[in-house]
Amino acid sequence: MSKLKVAIVGCGSISHCHFPVYKKLEDVELVACADINFERAKQCAEKYEVPNAYASVEELLEKHPEVDIVDVCTWPAAHGPVTIAAANAGKHVICEKPTSHNLKSALEMRKAIKKNNVIFQLATPLRYQKTANYIRDLVDKGELGDVFYGRTAYVRQRGIPGGWFSCSAYSGGGPVIDIGVHRIDLAWYLMGCPKPVSVSASASYRIGDYRPSASEKDKENAWAGTTVENYKFDTEDSACGFFRFENGATLYFDTSWSFNGPIENATMVVGDKAGATMDPFKIFRGDGMSITEEIPEGDFAGNFFELEIAHFIDCVRTGKTPSSDIEQAVQLEAMLAGIYDSAKKGKEIKLKY
Ligand SMILES: NC(=O)c1ccc[n+]([C@@H]2O[C@H](COP(=O)([O-])OP(=O)(O)OC[C@H]3O[C@@H](n4cnc5c(N)ncnc54)[C@H](O)[C@@H]3O)[C@@H](O)[C@H]2O)c1
Repeated sequence: MSKLKVAIVGCGSISHCHFPVYKKLEDVELVACADINFERAKQCAEKYEVPNAYASVEELLEKHPEVDIVDVCTWPAAHGPVTIAAANAGKHVICEKPTSHNLKSALEMRKAIKKNNVIFQLATPLRYQKTANYIRDLVDKGELGDVFYGRTAYVRQRGIPGGWFSCSAYSGGGPVIDIGVHRIDLAWYLMGCPKPVSVSASASYRIGDYRPSASEKDKENAWAGTTVENYKFDTEDSACGFFRFENGATLYFDTSWSFNGPIENATMVVGDKAGATMDPFKIFRGDGMSITEEIPEGDFAGNFFELEIAHFIDCVRTGKTPSSDIEQAVQLEAMLAGIYDSAKKGKEIKLKY
């Protein structure tokens, strides 16, 4: 079996979670990496023994027609241009979350992916955990019954990442697109990915950039994020709301980078026969007037970046459609964009994608 040839574009923080995964896989070979900050591309090339480093995706693609896969690890505003360039060159693409910094760009990505008939996977690691797949299997088998409700939260007390993360021209938004997206995607996935139809949300811009006064511990906990030109902190610091789906189900979400309340990292899905929580990992089965709580047994260990990338490699090898394919990536982006639209207009809005 010939090795799949991989190139990574964007050599910042998250790329350090991707490079080692490819290094471990026997059937892939890292052939090149690129970053507009060429020093970073060179550093990653040296650290992970990648033979070629470039300062642009265009140069990389021109010099390496043999590349099969482009892994996009740039900030969100570059996801569109890099994905489209890779797809137009016939490469399969795995792209970090969120799909892009806005819906228009995500729709353009979908057009390029479809036109070139290449495989696309959005890197949404939480849905690739074994525990998540255990619950999703129960949902698919009907063991939860009609799944009508989800609740999901990713709330930090103090945890604003640095650099571009809080500048919407680069990121597209604050905690909604940075961390909320992980939990929204997870809950939506567990619910069986029903078609999203509307959202009602609010967003807070009250606390803003507290970082100058953050403790050293807080700073360590936040993602660094590259310093960018024309930086201005203009994203929300918290958001909450709920989605309605075509099948009548609703999903409630909460997310924050700076919340004067408890930390939360939790996701639950509930049906008319049973429910499940991820944190703690539990199944709640209803029987008449009683509920039994069970902690599933099994080997649920595994690094979610490894599981996510292994899924993508398998899809490229077999031609299978990834779990978080371009259609789901666009729907997820529409859900995120809808949050901002609804918060701005102060009313529930219909989602279009
Ligand atoms: N899955 C997760 O848990 C997780 C965690 C953190 C970040 N992320 C996502 O990963 C992506 C990158 O985040 P990060 O923390 O690594 O940011 P980062 O700032 O550390 O790195 C981004 C890199 O992209 C480079 N870049 C920007 N535009 C480029 C272009 N057109 N071509 C080549 N390189 C370009 C920048 O120079 C920078 O080095 C974001 O989409 C973010 O949301 C995911």
